[in-house]
Amino acid sequence: MKKQITWMAALALLASIVQPGIASALPNKAGNGSAFDKKITERFDSDRSMEHISYLSENIGPRVAGTKEELDAAEYIRQKLQHYGYETKTEEFGIADRLEGELTTSYNDEELAIRVATGSASTQGENVIGAIVDSGIGLPGNFPEAVEGNIALIERGDMSFWEKTKNAMNAGAAGIIIYDNTEGLVPITPSLGDNEASIPVVAITMEDGQKLKEEMASEEVRATLNITEISDQQSQNVIAVKEPKGKPTNDNDIVYVTAHYDSVPYSPGASDNASGTSVALELARILQPFPTDKEIRFVFFGAEEIGLVGSQQYVSGLSTQDVENSLAAFNMDMVGTGWDQATALYVNVMDGAPNAVWQAVEAAGERLGNDSLKLYERGASDHVSFYEAGIDAANFILRDPETASLEPWYHTPLDTIDKISQERIQTNGELIGAAVYDTVRQDVPWSKSKNKPDSNTNDYLLNEDPAPIQ
Ligand code: BES
Ligand code: ZN
Repeated sequence: MKKQITWMAALALLASIVQPGIASALPNKAGNGSAFDKKITERFDSDRSMEHISYLSENIGPRVAGTKEELDAAEYIRQKLQHYGYETKTEEFGIADRLEGELTTSYNDEELAIRVATGSASTQGENVIGAIVDSGIGLPGNFPEAVEGNIALIERGDMSFWEKTKNAMNAGAAGIIIYDNTEGLVPITPSLGDNEASIPVVAITMEDGQKLKEEMASEEVRATLNITEISDQQSQNVIAVKEPKGKPTNDNDIVYVTAHYDSVPYSPGASDNASGTSVALELARILQPFPTDKEIRFVFFGAEEIGLVGSQQYVSGLSTQDVENSLAAFNMDMVGTGWDQATALYVNVMDGAPNAVWQAVEAAGERLGNDSLKLYERGASDHVSFYEAGIDAANFILRDPETASLEPWYHTPLDTIDKISQERIQTNGELIGAAVYDTVRQDVPWSKSKNKPDSNTNDYLLNEDPAPIQ
């Protein structure tokens, strides 16, 4: 409870630096672009994207890999795709065991927000209870004798988490609480490297650490720690394939439109990454009835936040032939933040070099008069898995063009829909959609397929004007 009140206060503060009126005035709906572009820009409906973001981030909330909430999100996506006329496939996979836990203190019996260190011991169904003992930064000389059989409270910094842990174990501590030395809305996840502790190790925020110390100055504070190992969990990717249709072609190219739908713990993940999911869903809807030369695969990844697990699983399941035919993977991850400084749409590629995705989107930007694009060398999202398989891939993400920073509420409980810009969802949906459509509708210069039909005029693709799907 206390945590939520703190978050609410911070929310009010942060709300003041978000662009005012971000949900109004949709741009660009007609205007620029070729006749083909207009098939996208006139149909892309960011109201629908906002509904997806609302459902994922508000009705479901945090969607941590392996949880019921993540599964609920996958089911929502699957139902939408089916409604748009696709056959869907859900690809399940196991994820690594993880530690989850609770920490309460005698001060007020409230549960503190914690992250369990990777390499921590579990408490094996029992509670570890003891007095909290201030142990400085965890140097061997910092541990009072009273720490024996009790819980060491250690400040982050100056040495590795494993050093601190070893020293606390040597001093006889029964558990460790590490508090942050910098401000943050959620605790960090300490890593013990390849080491394994024989006692539980958890992290809390700086604010909570300081509060505990204040309380401990006047009375003994006892902690109850309970760490469980969660095993045999599953995550899933949701896949919809749009086969080429229209005039027969020999084009075997495959184009991917992808986004991850999971989130980090405590975060509703409106920007990261209900935003990318919502744009991919809207593109799936509007592209479905169009005649296209190439196959489009819409792939929604689970378990991105625990190490790109869903996309690695997906790409490793592709046949050699599929990999060879894969032309481009468009990955959307954080494409709608309302943070006023995030005015550039970064196109992150692993090697920093222009590839098929960049070429398509750069050309679309020129046609649509959008000059917000920035080619950048960066990993950290699902485009990495495609790149590693040798497939041209890029990740789209809004950032500050000066500093490359992400919004301040990234990966926090404040990543909520009120800080999403519908205008940017619309602009980026139109831009990426135009690039995707341009790539799939014809024999583009960066196409890989051989033996194309002679004619490079694909005007027949314009003849059909399908009814938009409800
Ligand atoms: N959407 C984020 C952030 C991101 C994407 C940062 C692209 C930079 C470029 C993504 O979901 C994320 O948080 N990635 C992790 C790494 C991943 C391997 C777990 C990160 O950057 O900490
Ligand atoms: Zn993300």
